[in-house]
Amino acid sequence: MVTDKVVFNIFRFNPDNDKKPYFQEFEIPFIRKDLTVLEGLYHIQERLDNSLAFRSSCRAAVCGSCAMHINGKYRLACNTLVSKLKSDTITIRPLSHMSIHKDLFVDMKPFWEKYEHIKPYLIPGKSTPTTGEQIQSPDERTKIDVLIDCILCACCHSSCPITASHEKYLGPMALLNMDRFLSDTRDGARQERLAIVNDEHGVWRCHTVFNCQEVCPKDLNPSGSIAHLKMEIVKNKIS
Ligand code: FES
Repeated sequence: MVTDKVVFNIFRFNPDNDKKPYFQEFEIPFIRKDLTVLEGLYHIQERLDNSLAFRSSCRAAVCGSCAMHINGKYRLACNTLVSKLKSDTITIRPLSHMSIHKDLFVDMKPFWEKYEHIKPYLIPGKSTPTTGEQIQSPDERTKIDVLIDCILCACCHSSCPITASHEKYLGPMALLNMDRFLSDTRDGARQERLAIVNDEHGVWRCHTVFNCQEVCPKDLNPSGSIAHLKMEIVKNKIS
């Protein structure tokens, strides 16, 4: 890899003006060893072409806004070092299975609708106290440690071949988050939750390809969550 410059080869498409998408190259100075892909995109937007569209917010791998396809893999642009990609050319595409608003900026609405569908909040059960705090022990909390870190970036959604072919499939993000609430001892809607994921757009659509697990920037395991939901459906005799 050359040390003084790097080429960003970026997917461009403005549905208002362009007949079809194309790629555009920008050369940017490779000024620091810790230069991130997101900083490169900002360099382009601020100094070379202010029409370039992309999403970002926290710049710290927390908000999930900057997910995109970078040199063959879905990643967060803000925590992907250009130096780690070991390439003179960085090719960047938008997230898949969502329509393009402009360039790297996609329409996330269908993705949020799937999240909304799984009721991503605690639902009180019959035995839930109506007053006071609902106490959770450290052990009970530890059990959901591996589930609560999802930042809703959509890397898993875009890498999944089933979300590509079956528009209504809930997908790995929604199913992992369903497992997160189902596994929370403060939640009282087990039957309702399992019924939601037991339909034709739920867990049984998963072909266990493991792409979701491979690309998750937080090292979460949506495939494991889907397997857990399937077991719970059988155990609880949900039909
Ligand atoms: S900008 Fe927030 S995760 Fe990258």
